[in-house]
Amino acid sequence: MHEFFMRRCLQLAAGGRGRTGINPMVGAVLVRNGQIIAEGVHREFGRAHAERELLWKLEPANQSARSARFGALREICSTDALYVNLEPCCHTDKKTPPCTDAIIKSGLKRVVFGMQDPNPSVCGRGLEILRASGIEVIGPVLEDECRRFNRGFLSLQEGRRPWITLKIARTRTGKVAHDDGSMMKITSTEQNAWSHEFLRARHDAILVGVGTILTDDSRLTIRSGSEERVVGSHPYRIVLDPMLRIPFTARVVNDDHVTRTIIVCALEAGSATKSELRSRGAQVIECPMHQGDFDFSALWRLLITPKDLFYGISSILVEGGPKTWDAFWKAGMVDEEITLIGE
Ligand SMILES: NC(=O)c1ccc[n+]([C@@H]2O[C@H](COP(=O)([O-])OP(=O)(O)OC[C@H]3O[C@@H](n4cnc5c(N)ncnc54)[C@H](OP(=O)(O)O)[C@@H]3O)[C@@H](O)[C@H]2O)c1
Repeated sequence: MHEFFMRRCLQLAAGGRGRTGINPMVGAVLVRNGQIIAEGVHREFGRAHAERELLWKLEPANQSARSARFGALREICSTDALYVNLEPCCHTDKKTPPCTDAIIKSGLKRVVFGMQDPNPSVCGRGLEILRASGIEVIGPVLEDECRRFNRGFLSLQEGRRPWITLKIARTRTGKVAHDDGSMMKITSTEQNAWSHEFLRARHDAILVGVGTILTDDSRLTIRSGSEERVVGSHPYRIVLDPMLRIPFTARVVNDDHVTRTIIVCALEAGSATKSELRSRGAQVIECPMHQGDFDFSALWRLLITPKDLFYGISSILVEGGPKTWDAFWKAGMVDEEITLIGE
């Protein structure tokens, strides 16, 4: 029973994918007599947390036609249970007040949570505050799934860098490209569909080295899969390109998602090229280098710091090629590695 409703929280939470930035993806449901009567989602960085969105819908003034489909939402009943995949927050960040206050004020008597919040300013305190006010707190429920689901957020909290998945496609004989360096079709249609839906669509960004752009002119988009993404939530495309060798004809600086392209270059890369790429809508960020490689700590700082409409990146799929894979292995920056073996 608990697991069923927690799965619904995760399903709702996925609606925020690509928009929550460095915040966790969170969904919440209110259950009365075994039925969901209200739902909430953390939709976007800076917007209401899932619990607040849900409680807001319960207020009579906000009971729109949309919420009416759940039937009349009257007062909170003593048997109602709030399910949420992450411990409710108890701190005030710059934009949102504590969810624990809203929950206590609502009169709820039971909260079921999926995992504890690793953020040091919450980390169990949210649960303690709820318990101290007489609320029954149940959990963690489906903890492993909840942690895996928000692994990007966990990586930021625990390691101060995004979660990194490295993906390699190779033939049975170990080839990753033709001998002359040109692109080789390695994976099947089914493998491609799987990697679009389960890899590309489930990371905040897809990263390649400029060598791959030069040989493959990769699009780095999601072209199959069922996961719905709201406008503006397409994964970022990150190109590591110290001296800006990327051609102006490259797809990633000409297509509809150009504003989601981030080109990382050295401080001394040509300023005219930087301006031209920016004028096309791409983001060009300058990163210090160390012994010929980007300084990854500096790069993470740039990528996990929200600025204006950039909400930060919590997970990256590194697609290659070999020089880029080597740089990540050498730096010990690989959390998960997936190899697809084709013919
Ligand atoms: N089978 C697969 O899964 C797969 C996937 C992708 C690509 N490929 C193939 O791989 C080949 C291209 O690979 P590649 O190894 O030549 O090139 P690459 O890894 O795509 O790009 C390498 C270049 O990117 C820049 N770069 C990468 N990591 C960096 C770092 N940590 N710091 C600074 N700069 C960094 C450097 O640019 P500068 O040289 O300008 O310094 C480097 O030479 C192509 O044949 C492509 O078809 C295969």
